[in-house]
Amino acid sequence: MMKLGVCYYPEHWPESDWVDDARRMKKLGLDRVRIGEFAWSQIEPTPGAYDWSWLDRAISVLHAEGLEVILCTPTATPPKWLVDQHPDILPWDKHGHPKQFGSRRHYCFSSPIYRRESARIVSALAARYGEHPAVVMWQTDNEYGHHDTHESFSPDAVRAFRVWLQRRYKSIEALNAAWGTSFWSQMYRSFDEIDPPNATVTEANPSHRLDFRRFSSNAICAFNKEQVDILRRLSPGRPIAHNYIGDFTRLDHHEIGAGLDVATWDSYPIGLLSEGNGSKENKVRWLRSGHPDFAAFNHDVFRNCSPHWGVMEQQPGPVNWATHNAAPAPGMVRLWTWEAFAHGADFVSYFRWRQVPFGQEQMHAGLLTPDRRDTRAVSEILQLSQEREKVGAPERHCPPVAIVLDYPSLWQHEIQPQGRSGSVLEMSRVVYSACRRLGLDVDLVPPSSDFDGYEIVILPSVPILDAGLCRRLKDAGATVLAMPLTGSRTQDGHIPTELAPGSFSDLLPMRIEMFESLPPFVSLNVEVDGKPYVASQWRESIVSEAEQLAWFENGEPAWVRYGHAHYLACWPGDELLSLVLRRLCQEVRLEIRETGFDIRLRRAGSVQYAFNYGADVFDLGDLGAPAGLESYLIGGRQIEGAGVSAWRIG
Ligand code: GAL
Repeated sequence: MMKLGVCYYPEHWPESDWVDDARRMKKLGLDRVRIGEFAWSQIEPTPGAYDWSWLDRAISVLHAEGLEVILCTPTATPPKWLVDQHPDILPWDKHGHPKQFGSRRHYCFSSPIYRRESARIVSALAARYGEHPAVVMWQTDNEYGHHDTHESFSPDAVRAFRVWLQRRYKSIEALNAAWGTSFWSQMYRSFDEIDPPNATVTEANPSHRLDFRRFSSNAICAFNKEQVDILRRLSPGRPIAHNYIGDFTRLDHHEIGAGLDVATWDSYPIGLLSEGNGSKENKVRWLRSGHPDFAAFNHDVFRNCSPHWGVMEQQPGPVNWATHNAAPAPGMVRLWTWEAFAHGADFVSYFRWRQVPFGQEQMHAGLLTPDRRDTRAVSEILQLSQEREKVGAPERHCPPVAIVLDYPSLWQHEIQPQGRSGSVLEMSRVVYSACRRLGLDVDLVPPSSDFDGYEIVILPSVPILDAGLCRRLKDAGATVLAMPLTGSRTQDGHIPTELAPGSFSDLLPMRIEMFESLPPFVSLNVEVDGKPYVASQWRESIVSEAEQLAWFENGEPAWVRYGHAHYLACWPGDELLSLVLRRLCQEVRLEIRETGFDIRLRRAGSVQYAFNYGADVFDLGDLGAPAGLESYLIGGRQIEGAGVSAWRIG
């Protein structure tokens, strides 16, 4: 599809600007406009009295220009009158204080009153526009869980948590067993005695915390499903999307995505590089481009959540919310867009059309300045919308490598990390980047995947591992690499009776007898083929008869292999990780191409893309790029800083 779009707020601008805005959007090559996600108080200025007139006109102005509309449900911003009528709808923070009106996301997912009000406004909106010819897609709410709203500790949330637990465990005895409440005298006599794990003296019971995470994610899914059911009834045939947050792990995107048609996410590569815990060196190096694997990683996560996917909000210039807000290098808006299309996005939509001179996001760039002049991003989009024609219809293919991403496992490790060693998400990203630096295309798949078609599957620490997953891995016949903590916990968050790596030992007979975490300034020496390599942070003692491929200084194995299954007992440094991955590629005869720091490759069917996240010109000759300029759909063999090249492969 490869459509382009923009997020637009007609309610912010004089109506006299709308027609010209729509014309300029169309001229720029934009196909879609997302509207309405924060407009509840304009749609229903007083209780029960809807004002559709402005929205009718805004939609028909866009429609008249041939622009498609993505209409959003406005539930991320309940109006003041609703909060005043029902203060109970507010979410409560972990200290037991209600969060107040005046920004956004001020509602609790478990509030029955808010659920009723959400259903009411969504029904009214869908009844009005569900069959409108301009409306081609719906977006539910906006960025579920943002601003720490994934959890609420309100009285409604407490009640809903108890009901959720009762459904899960049926009897209080079963809950006591699952939570191991014989520890520290935590036995419960009934579900009514249970509170959320937010106000304990020291660390709360880890199984209690894991269930509260599950409950909170599940409450978002249930809230979303109520909107989806209404939209499906009143707007049949229109796909439904939600816009997720990049690198956000508090919501199980696989669970919510199963009920949606389109998974979209909001891509702010520079803002998130600034906020992330990457090294200072990397923050300097990619200050104006974002980390070369940040957007790609999230594309590859969200691609696997719903049948379709896209980027709902793409950073067009400096944002306003990071610690420091650098401007993208010239060319980056085009590069980010092409990278999304190369990963199979149906559409990329920019946030926002015009920088708004009032409110919380005054300092956030748009495609237009506040006085309606084009920013640099506009010329990049113009170029891109012409290039789209040359590339033609998008193609997809199955990447050879899959990395398993499991949300309950991420939560489990966060809850009981055994020290301040790196997170499961970080490990997944490190492995992902290492694969990309070898020129490999990667999928980030849910644990329910059938692993069909993948040659290599990596479990970069998946503590909660079920036996079904290992069976499917075995059946798929792929080469598998598991890393520390994999299979180290049961669904309840307990150490399994057979010890780690739990059911992974069906693929590789072994057990872990000891696990230690180390400070980041201590390194471990690992020997492979007589050469020393560096590892850090985690070390495990493996007991196994399997073939040993690497050793720690104390002589214990650091890497073992049995058939197609490998296990690595440490957090490997870059060189060791690259060595392990090369070895796996050799086993399955997968070609590798070293891309270095700044260059990234991505294949989409018969089209090979290359991206330059650095500032210097790079010769793509060694990466299999053709010589003659006529072979290129975009760019050429010499790729400039922030440049894109694309060519057809046989
Ligand atoms: C997103 C959000 C938008 C806007 C944007 C600014 O998280 O969905 O509404 O706030 O950030 O970068």
